[in-house]
Amino acid sequence: MFLTGTMRINAAGHLEIGGCDTVELAKQYGTPLYIMDETLIRQNCAAYRDTFAALYPDSLVAYAGKAFLTTAMCCLVEEEGLALDVASGGEIYTAHVAGFPASRMIYHGNNKTPDEIRFALDLGVGRFVVDSLSELELLNEVAVAAGKTATVLIRVKPGIEAHTHHYIQTGQMDSKFGLGLADGQALAAVKTALKMKHIKFTGLHCHIGSQIFDLKPFQLAVHVMMDFIQEIRKKTGVSVQELDLGGGFGIRYLRDDNPYALTEFVELIVTAVNAKAAEHNLPLPKLLVEPGRSIVGEAGTTLYTVGTIKDVPGIRRYVAVDGGMTDNLRTALYEAKYEAIVANKAKAAAEETVSIAGRACESGDILIWDIELPALKRGDLLAVLSTGAYHYSMSNNYNRFPRPAVVFVRDGRADVVVERETYADITRNDVIPPRLQQSVRQAAK
Ligand code: LLP
Repeated sequence: MFLTGTMRINAAGHLEIGGCDTVELAKQYGTPLYIMDETLIRQNCAAYRDTFAALYPDSLVAYAGKAFLTTAMCCLVEEEGLALDVASGGEIYTAHVAGFPASRMIYHGNNKTPDEIRFALDLGVGRFVVDSLSELELLNEVAVAAGKTATVLIRVKPGIEAHTHHYIQTGQMDSKFGLGLADGQALAAVKTALKMKHIKFTGLHCHIGSQIFDLKPFQLAVHVMMDFIQEIRKKTGVSVQELDLGGGFGIRYLRDDNPYALTEFVELIVTAVNAKAAEHNLPLPKLLVEPGRSIVGEAGTTLYTVGTIKDVPGIRRYVAVDGGMTDNLRTALYEAKYEAIVANKAKAAAEETVSIAGRACESGDILIWDIELPALKRGDLLAVLSTGAYHYSMSNNYNRFPRPAVVFVRDGRADVVVERETYADITRNDVIPPRLQQSVRQAAK
């Protein structure tokens, strides 16, 4: 086990986050419960903001909302002075109702609909990251009709694909995102954008993957993108003003995970940009990054109540909790691994190896395979760590389980930022057509 942010074990032997005893949080808000360490989120925002400001002042850090977005989170991001990466009309709407300025939103997506584009243009979304030639044409059409101009970054496939512990370089990357360099599509899109009256082309974007521990692929991405900037200048005479390097910086899920320090990452990309600009005699572009997971991932903890414990003799002990793949899809989708702490007896020594099962009707709904924990019994509280990114945002209502509440904790105070769903929420959008209402009434007789 490891503790992050403001976590500590208090005198009662309970896990405490943000000065709040998690046993009390469970009593007050119920479980499963997403607990977000507001202080750690703010520290992470500040670290990105201040490190970039110190090492490359002409830069902009945009928090990637897909990792975790609620209206309160938008307010926090705004207070911390970050911009916001949004990936859908729903994310734009969330930020808008929270009062987040549209001009500081960067809009992504490989299939933005005409309605979403219109909505974004009407609000004045600051940058559109265009993912295809077809989208460029659509965006221009909608912008012409609306009498607006869209500021555009072109998303490029740099031909580098990075995963947690390795990366690959391929000439022709098979991905639904972005425009290829090798096949000339990216250059064609830039040239087309430059001709469009309602499109203001300002820069390039790339994103090479997520949960990356190796720094080398980021450096390579800078090299490839800066070389492309040089090519654009040679072929069109235009100096690219902005370079957005996406997100992807890895975090700690397991005690042995050892991500680089943020300053090392920033120093590396800044050095690479400066070196390439000097090599090609290019003006320095404004640098953008879009961290998601590394802002919120370690700040999140999911608190569950232990229910049924089932022994499969000679094989394993399943400890079922009151959540699972509905609040954490990552184990089922990516075989993601987690650490956990027994929140109501956090000082107890590990005694047995168990597997933590969810309660959805699916065999694959296992949160953690084989974890050593103190002896557990029904009613114990299990805290699963590093669940701040891509958990709430990927939660679902499979089996019609209501989604958990989300609380922000800070300095001994907890505030609900998303209410727990109720059964009424579950049926809110259901409609019984009149002919079926009749059969229901008859069946009830
Ligand atoms: N920018 C773009 C264009 C992205 O596609 C992403 C993530 C980010 C920024 C933020 O990346 P981060 O800093 O969070 O790694 N559901 C998966 C992760 C999907 C990432 C999608 N794109 C997971 O749970 O691991």
